[in-house]
Amino acid sequence: MSRQKLNIGLFGFGVVGQGLYDVLEKSPALDSRVSKICVKRRINRSLPDDMFCYDPDEILEDESINTIVEVIDNAEDACFIVKKALQKGKNVVSANKKMLAEHLSEMVALAKEKNVSLLYEASACGSIPVIRNLEEYYDNDLLLSVTGILNGSSNYILSKIFDNHESYSVALKEAQELGFAESNPSFDVDGFDSLYKLIILTLHSFGVIVSPGEVLNYGISNITEFDINYAREKGYKIKLVAQVERLRDKKIALFVLPRFVTRDKYIYSVEDEFNGVVIKGVAYDKQFMFGKGAGGHPTGSAVLSDITALGHHYRYEYKKASYFGGFKYFKEAAIELYLRYSNPQVLRNFEFKSVSEEYHGPKYHYKIGFIRLDKLIAIKDKLRDLDIFLAATGKALNY
Ligand code: HSE
Repeated sequence: MSRQKLNIGLFGFGVVGQGLYDVLEKSPALDSRVSKICVKRRINRSLPDDMFCYDPDEILEDESINTIVEVIDNAEDACFIVKKALQKGKNVVSANKKMLAEHLSEMVALAKEKNVSLLYEASACGSIPVIRNLEEYYDNDLLLSVTGILNGSSNYILSKIFDNHESYSVALKEAQELGFAESNPSFDVDGFDSLYKLIILTLHSFGVIVSPGEVLNYGISNITEFDINYAREKGYKIKLVAQVERLRDKKIALFVLPRFVTRDKYIYSVEDEFNGVVIKGVAYDKQFMFGKGAGGHPTGSAVLSDITALGHHYRYEYKKASYFGGFKYFKEAAIELYLRYSNPQVLRNFEFKSVSEEYHGPKYHYKIGFIRLDKLIAIKDKLRDLDIFLAATGKALNY
């Protein structure tokens, strides 16, 4: 099949949109061009005025445009654009993890029905080609787990806290200034961004679409000096880790939690805005993918790769769902957690299956033990408001 020429309508010209435009300019061999850019407000003045439009339909109704690249921030607007583009029979490249995670079933079905391609490599781990590899290389049932640092901003913050002894708020401000952080930083630091990415990776790892609301995500916004010192004294780092893991009997478990990471782990050395993904399987043991997970050019390069792949008529086949399906999300598995608290009343919220360690200090106390994921999911929105910090110890799940 010959390479198809892509006439691209681009939605969004922020950090990622401009990054994509730059990397496209650096790829003259690519037989594709951006012919229109739809923005809410014009900020960039370096391109001619007639490149820009403000009404999505100017692109969506244009029959000469056969490919939509959507790199906007707003998930609702992205949903409208992607849905309409697919309905119009256009190929779509999207980087919007929230929109995708919340509408995967619908979007995947629509792309199939309309016989077009929906690609989204840039939605998870920026420049790291994790989705394509899960889909194409790990296209068998040997996969055991995918574990990673999927959020550059929170990793940047944790690196600055641990390595440079910076305060949480200064480090967050830096991540925002550097353009890694989402417009609502709670997305990053409370683990939502990692959660959406994990939902997407779970589909390509095990063929299961899980609703984000059904998965525990807890982030780093409640971390204190006490927690940092606890980790330092033990020689650990704290990383915000997302994991999907195959359990017995075709069950899987997934969650996003801060985790104590020992020096012998690959992700221990993943610093700043970098992401790192460990893929574990039968026969090959562990493999590690590392790279920039945020920023205009790294994310733009992932979008570019999808555009190139589209030129070659590439589509996700969702091989796991088609050939190795039948995995079920099992929320009753228990995870070992460190729970730091000051007011003992807070413990009423937690049902420990077993406790291995307890500490009582003048201001802070902690308890380490196993708690079932479903019990935490039931109170996941409340967890952020409690005066606590939770971190996984990294012990195997109990189920
Ligand atoms: N806010 C995201 C991050 C951007 O920090 O990783 C890339 O998805």
